[in-house]
Amino acid sequence: MKQLLMVAILALSSMVQPAYSQGKNHHIVFIPKSSSDLAFWKIMRQGCDKAVQEFGNVTLTWRGPAYDDDTDSQIRILENYIRPDVDALVIVPTDRNLLLAPIRKAAEMGIKIIVVDSGLNGNVHRNFIATNNFSGGKLAGKRLVDVMGNQGKVLVLRTVVRSASTDDRADGFVDYLWNNAPNVQLVADEYGGGSKGKAQASGLALLKKHPDLTGIFAVNEAAVSGMLQALRTTGNAGKIKLVGFDSSDTLLSGLEKNEISGLIVQNPALMGYLGIKSAVEAINNVPVKEENQLIEAKTVTPQNLKTPEIQRLLFP
Ligand code: BDR
Repeated sequence: MKQLLMVAILALSSMVQPAYSQGKNHHIVFIPKSSSDLAFWKIMRQGCDKAVQEFGNVTLTWRGPAYDDDTDSQIRILENYIRPDVDALVIVPTDRNLLLAPIRKAAEMGIKIIVVDSGLNGNVHRNFIATNNFSGGKLAGKRLVDVMGNQGKVLVLRTVVRSASTDDRADGFVDYLWNNAPNVQLVADEYGGGSKGKAQASGLALLKKHPDLTGIFAVNEAAVSGMLQALRTTGNAGKIKLVGFDSSDTLLSGLEKNEISGLIVQNPALMGYLGIKSAVEAINNVPVKEENQLIEAKTVTPQNLKTPEIQRLLFP
């Protein structure tokens, strides 16, 4: 009986852990854009941990810089792991260009490279897993025009130069206005910095410079948080329509108070899970099925916030 039970347990675990990954332990280093308190990275880590638990023979090292715009630190962290004991590197590049040289060095050492969330120039990496950010930006444009009407003045608050994910969604937003709301005037399209504090300071300056705004698109969690605080400080929260990317307790509270009109929400847990899965496949030389895996974002509004589908996405 005991032997039968052991066979059943082994069969079950092999069902979860594919044959090619059994045996040797794999050391995978995951370098997010930052190890800040942003909900986005915490949920991405949850997805990684789920994959690590399922595969069973993965040692995960998770290390990121303090903020999303600290490219020098991210490069230093990366270079520290260009070592023989590292089998694969999963990275979210803070800069699509400046990370290319150090990542190429890692690849030349035989370390497998997976890129997640934010694009990297060149083709050193095996595959790319991210939100379809351009179409997500168009969703933001649609939501903002839906709530403010197809007249008025809007601005885009980006984060840092060459952050592929956030620039792609800003470009999608502008594309939507250009093709669907020609009477909406884009009065500013600025880089506000990679932390909530920097975004708030930039938001205050932009609100002072453009006192007659109708709507704002902020490209990620830090930008939305900073702009929301700036709108509250100046008494404009809920008056100037704000649409942004990502979710967090702060942003969801703003949505419930109608200070935020819409959040374009991603699936960082799935990105983290697929990042680890791709790394294990790369280590085992499993052929790539899909070089670019793009996950569609969802528009969350005060009206659909409590639906089961949205709740499952927000609280995986
Ligand atoms: C944010 O930056 C982007 O790269 C992610 O997609 C997310 O929107 C996290 O700081």
